[in-house]
Order: sequence, then structure tokens, then C-alpha cells
Amino acid sequence: MVIGVPKEIMPSEARVAASPDTVKQMVDKGLEVLIEKGAGEGSFYHDEQYVEAGAKIIDDCAELFAKSDLILKVKEPLFNEAKGKHEVEMMREGQYLITFIHPAAPVNHEMVKMLAKQGVISLTLDGVPRISRAQNLDALTSMSTCAGYKGIMLAGNYLPRFMPQIFTAVGMIKPVNVLVIGSGVGGLQAIATAKRLGAVVHAADIRPDAAEQAGSLGAKIIDLGIPKEAAVGDGGYALQLTPELLEKERKVLAEHVPEMDIIFCSALVPGEQAPVLLTEEMVKSMKPGSVIVDISIDQGGNCALTPAGTVEVKHNITLVGIKNIPGLLPTSATWMFAQNVANFVNYLVKDGKIVLDLEDEIIDKSLTTYNGEVVHKGARKAMGL
Ligand code: NAI
Repeated sequence: MVIGVPKEIMPSEARVAASPDTVKQMVDKGLEVLIEKGAGEGSFYHDEQYVEAGAKIIDDCAELFAKSDLILKVKEPLFNEAKGKHEVEMMREGQYLITFIHPAAPVNHEMVKMLAKQGVISLTLDGVPRISRAQNLDALTSMSTCAGYKGIMLAGNYLPRFMPQIFTAVGMIKPVNVLVIGSGVGGLQAIATAKRLGAVVHAADIRPDAAEQAGSLGAKIIDLGIPKEAAVGDGGYALQLTPELLEKERKVLAEHVPEMDIIFCSALVPGEQAPVLLTEEMVKSMKPGSVIVDISIDQGGNCALTPAGTVEVKHNITLVGIKNIPGLLPTSATWMFAQNVANFVNYLVKDGKIVLDLEDEIIDKSLTTYNGEVVHKGARKAMGL
């Protein structure tokens, strides 16, 4: 079986779907691996390292797509300007694709339909369920870990103040207050990072389990007063709150916001728009120079003022709405992502061939196009199929 890893073509995407480590793992399993020339440069992995690990370097991405049985990518297929062709057009019937597809997002509907029409068997990494046996192939969790860490580093960079307590000859500087809203995977990593940098960390989450985990990392818990039955649904996932409960939550948060130097927003209900938890009035109530990092921006953001994809100062507050934060940590993000994808490949390949068990929860939730059809439930619902 031949595995192809093209260079990512989304502007400023530095990650790649294989590291020299994972190439070696796949080659050791008897798989052939093709890497597009320079595909790892953005993550500081060079062609020679891939060759040393057993890969073959291919100059032309069209040739790589044509020769591969399984394509591994980071981002959804896009139009390749240099080739004058969509990446899907370079794919063929029966070929497999593993990547983040985000198939329910309206911007991707046309591309997903193209994948189905082309007969590509695609699996989306954002569909991998958060169950214990899928942990080592859960790329979304890896990327949220990157976003939690790097998001706090960005906040520290934009903040015009020291983060930790500092004793100087002219007096003592107090540590800053950081509030993390939504202490899931990204939020917990943000809490741990802010603690290491010496901040006083506060956390708020509607799920009691998440709040407890935040507390065990040393965060001071803000009690949002949301009843558990309104907050936690099947499988322990968060529920979208009613407008009344959201208003109640904003009121509680509004009491704490003026004290915060950094607010890190990572509240999300899977498959839903991000709840708006910080209003313009709340932003205005913060101290000049304070920073809000809103990593839920892909789902609309937790702060009403977050600029999508960029950084802006409004009401003297720096609002960070950068969408691809893991891409700012490319070596680590690629290392983790590549390992998740290699584990996925390992999970699917039996005796040198991909075997899809359609009854298996991991396959069922991630399979996006199959037998010429869009099969992903969320995508079908969003497309009205
Ligand atoms: P997660 O599902 O692990 O955590 C979300 C948390 O939000 C949960 O603990 C949930 O209980 C909590 N929550 C839900 N509604 C809430 C409310 N009303 N108030 C307070 N808490 C609430 O999600 P994860 O993996 O940590 O991702 C968080 C966000 O980060 C997502 O929007 C994800 O797409 C985004 N993300 C962004 C990246 C970027 O580069 N901007 C990279 C990776 C993830």
C-alpha cells in the first residue's frame, strides 16, 4: 500500500501530516511512503530526514496523488493555484483520504460533494470520538493542547505587563490574573501554562467535572451557578445552555472580568456555535492593555468582539482571534498530529490493506464520503440531505 503526504497548500499552514518518526513507523510496517518535496520544511523537518526514515520524495503533487492509495493531510482539500486544479480533482475512485475535513461547515459542502462524486473514501479527524480507545488517534485533542499552550504564550506577548510576581528595588509587582472560560482540553492546557508562568489563574466551566479538573491544576473556580442537568448531556459532553442560563452566566462572569488581565476563551459545545460569554460592555470593563485570546473563533467565538483570523485592539483591549494557533507551534503540532494520523493508519490497516468496519464507532463517526455518497451525519444534516 502506498501512502502519499502532500505539502499543505493553505496559506501560512506550516504543518504536515507525517514526521520522519511516523514515516519510519509506517515503512517498518511494510507500507511505502511518498512525501512531496519540501512538505515538512515549515515544521523544520527536511527531505533528507524523510528519506533517511525510508520515504521517497516526489517533486510533483499530481504524481504523488496519482501514485498513492491513501492520502494523509492536515487541512481539507483546497484549490491548488499552482496546478490550476482542486486537490480533489487529483484524487480518484477508491482512494482513501484522512485529514481534518470539517464536513458540516457550509464552506466545505461543495468540496465534500466533490469527494463523494470522485469516489474518494474520506475520513475526517474532527469526527474521531473522545472515547478512551480513540485517544491516541485524536488529533483534535492534540491541536487543542497546542492552542491552550501557545494561546497563553500569545497572551503573555501582547500583555504590556509582567505575568509573574516580581520583586524589584522599586517595589513589588503583583502577578496578573488569568481567567480561563471553558476548561476542556484547550482550557486545561491554558491553565497549566498560565500557572507555570506565575499568573493567578481562575477558571469557569459549566460541567462540574471540568471545573474540578481545573481546580486540581491550581485554578480558583468561579461558580457559574448552572444546574448540572442543564449543563451535561450524553457521554458527559456539555450542553448548549438556554438563553436565560447564558444570561445568568454572563452576569456571574461580568463580576470577575474587570479584575482579569488575560481572558482565555475556550468554551464550546461540540457541533454547535460557540456561546457568546463576553459582551462589548464586559470588554470595556477590563483594564487598559488587557488581552483576550478567543480560541473558539472557528465556531464564532466566545467574545462578541473577537476579530476572526486576526488580532485587533478595541476599547484598549487586545483581542486575539488567530484561527490556526497550532500552526504557530509547527514542530510540536506536526509531531503530535503525525503521530495521531499514523496511529489511525495503524488502526485501519490489516495485513497491508485498509479494512473499514462500518459498525465501529471510530469509523462510523469519522467516515465522511463512501461509495459515492456523503455519509457523515452532521454534514448530511447541514446539507439538508
Ligand atoms: P472541549 O470540548 O474539550 O472543551 C470545551 C469546554 O467548554 C468544555 O469543558 C465545556 O464544558 C465548556 N463549555 C461549554 N459551554 C460552556 C459555557 N457556556 N460556559 C463555560 N464553559 C462551557 O474543547 P477543546 O478541544 O478544548 O476546544 C475548545 C475550542 O478551541 C474549540 O472551539 C476548538 O475548535 C478550538 N480550537 C481552536 C484552535 C485554534 O487554533 N484557534 C485549535 C484547537 C482548538
